[in-house]
Amino acid sequence: MIPLLALCVFLFLLIIPSIIFYKLCWIPLRLQRLMESQGIRGPPYRFLHGNTREIIKMKQQTKDAAAMDISHDIFPIILPHWYSWIKLYGNNFLYWIGTEPEIVVTEPELVKEILSNKQGTFRKIVAKRAYWKKLLGDGLIAAEGEKWLKLRKLANHAFHGESLKDMVPEITACVETMLEKWRNYHGKEIEVCSEFKHLSSEVISRTAFGSNCLEGRKIFDMLSKLIVLISRNMLKIRPFGLGKFIRTQDDKEADKIEQLLHDSIMEIVNKRQDEVQTGKADSFGNDFLGSLLKSHHDTDPKSHISAAEIIDECKTFYFGGQETTFSLLSWTTFLLAIHTEWQDRAREEVLQLFGQQNPNSDGLSRLKTVNMILYETLRLYGAVTNIVRRTGSRMKLGKYELPANIRVSIPPLALHRNPEIWGQDAHLFKPERFAQGMAKATNGIPTAFLGFGFGPRTCVGLNFAISEAKITFSMILQRYKFTLSSDYVHSPFILLTAQPQRGVGILLQPL
Ligand code: HEM
Repeated sequence: MIPLLALCVFLFLLIIPSIIFYKLCWIPLRLQRLMESQGIRGPPYRFLHGNTREIIKMKQQTKDAAAMDISHDIFPIILPHWYSWIKLYGNNFLYWIGTEPEIVVTEPELVKEILSNKQGTFRKIVAKRAYWKKLLGDGLIAAEGEKWLKLRKLANHAFHGESLKDMVPEITACVETMLEKWRNYHGKEIEVCSEFKHLSSEVISRTAFGSNCLEGRKIFDMLSKLIVLISRNMLKIRPFGLGKFIRTQDDKEADKIEQLLHDSIMEIVNKRQDEVQTGKADSFGNDFLGSLLKSHHDTDPKSHISAAEIIDECKTFYFGGQETTFSLLSWTTFLLAIHTEWQDRAREEVLQLFGQQNPNSDGLSRLKTVNMILYETLRLYGAVTNIVRRTGSRMKLGKYELPANIRVSIPPLALHRNPEIWGQDAHLFKPERFAQGMAKATNGIPTAFLGFGFGPRTCVGLNFAISEAKITFSMILQRYKFTLSSDYVHSPFILLTAQPQRGVGILLQPL
C-alpha cells in the first residue's frame, strides 16, 4: 500500500511540474525560436507573464507624460509597447500576452494578404474571450462563414442606399435636439465628448432600433460598464483556463450586466413583435430591427435567424454604432477647433450647399472638404487601434510560415503614420491629402488607410457613420464658430476605442 502511495506522489510530483514546464516554458520558447529563425523577432518571453508587465509599465510611463503638449504623433503615447518594439525588432514582430503569442504585422502587403483573407484562412477572434463575448456575442463583428454572409446581407441592406437616405431626417432631428441644449452655452465652454456620446447613442437607437432615448440609454450604460471591465481585465493573466473555475468580482459583475443587457434588448424586441401580433402594426418595420425580426420569422433556413442571434446583433450594432462614431465626432471637433482655417473652409462649403437649411442626402455626398477632414481625422485619430485575426491552420504569410491558431494584430496607427507612404509630414493634420481621392492619398497602397478596415470585413457602418458626422458638422458649422478651451489637456487613450481621456472643451461663438 505504502509503495503504491509513494509511487502516486512521485508521479504527481514529476508529472505536474513537467506539464507546467512544457506549457509555460517549452512551447513558448520553441515558438519564439521558430519565428526568430524566419526573421520575426520580439521581446523575450517571460515565464507566465509574457510581456504584460513591460506593457503595463510602458503604458503607465506614457500616460503620465501624455498631457504635455498637443502633438498628433499619438502612436508612442497610446500604444507605447508596439511603437518601441517596431523600432527595435522591425515591422513585424512577436510578443506575448501571458502565454499567448501574438504577431504584430505592419507591412502593407502582408496586411493586405491577411485582411483580404482569400482562402478563408485568417479568422475572426474577437468574441472568443469571455468578456468580449458578453459585449458582442456572436454577432456580425465575430461571425464567420455562412452565418456571417447571412448577417452581413441584412446589415448591408439596413445601412446603405435608400435605407440610409431615409435615416437623414431622423439623424437631423437628433442633432437638432443636441443643438437646442447648446443654446445655453453661447459664449461659454462646452465639453463635447459627452454630448457626442449621447448623440451617437440616440442616433443608432432611433434609426436602427426605433427605440426611445430612455431604452437606448439603459443599454448604453450597461455597454459602457462592460467596456470598462474589458479594459481592466485585458492584460490579466489566468493560465490553465483558471478563469473558468475562479470567479473574480469583475466576472460576477460582467455576468450580471450580460443578463440585464439581454433583458433590456428582449424588451425592445418583444415590444416590436407584440405590435404586429396584436394588430397595432402591419409589419415589423423597415429599420434594422425590423429586418432582423423578418428574418427571425422567415421559415427558409437560409434566411432564418434565431432569437439569440437577434440579441447578439443588437448588441453589436448598439456598440458599433456608438463607440466609434462618438470618437470620430470628438476628434474632428478637437482638430477643427485648433485648425480654424479648415473650420472656415468647411463652413463655407456647408453654407454654399445648404445655406441655413437642414442637410439633405444629395448635398451630403457633395461635401468634399468635410469628407477630407473626416478622413484625415480617422488617419490621425482612428477609433479602431487594433484589427485582430487568428490563423485557422498552419499557413503562409508572405515569406513567413505561421503556426495554427496564433493571434495576428494589425495596428492601423502604424500604417497611418508611415512616412514612406504619407511623407515626412505624416504627423500633421493636412486634409488636402485626400483632395484627389483615396487612391492618390495612399500612393496606390490600398492598406495604407485602415480607418474602416479593409477587404470583405470592411466596416458595414461606414456610410452611416460618415453621413452622421457630415450632418452633425454641417449643423454645428451653420450655427457656430468654435475654438479649443484653454483648459484642454491632450491625453488620448484607449478605452477599446481611441478617445480623449479628459474630454474636449470648446468655446462656442454663435454666428
Ligand atoms: C467612425 C466610425 C466607425 C469606425 C472608425 C469603424 C471602424 C471599423 C473597422 C476598422 C472595422 C473592421 C474591423 C475588422 O476588420 O476586424 C469595422 C467593422 C464593423 N463595423 Fe465599424 N466603424 C465605425 C462605425 C460603425 C457603425 C456606425 C456601425 C453600425 C451601424 C459599425 C458596425 C461595424 C460592424 C458590424 C463591423 C463588422 C463588419 C464585418 O465583420 O462584416 N461601425 N468598423
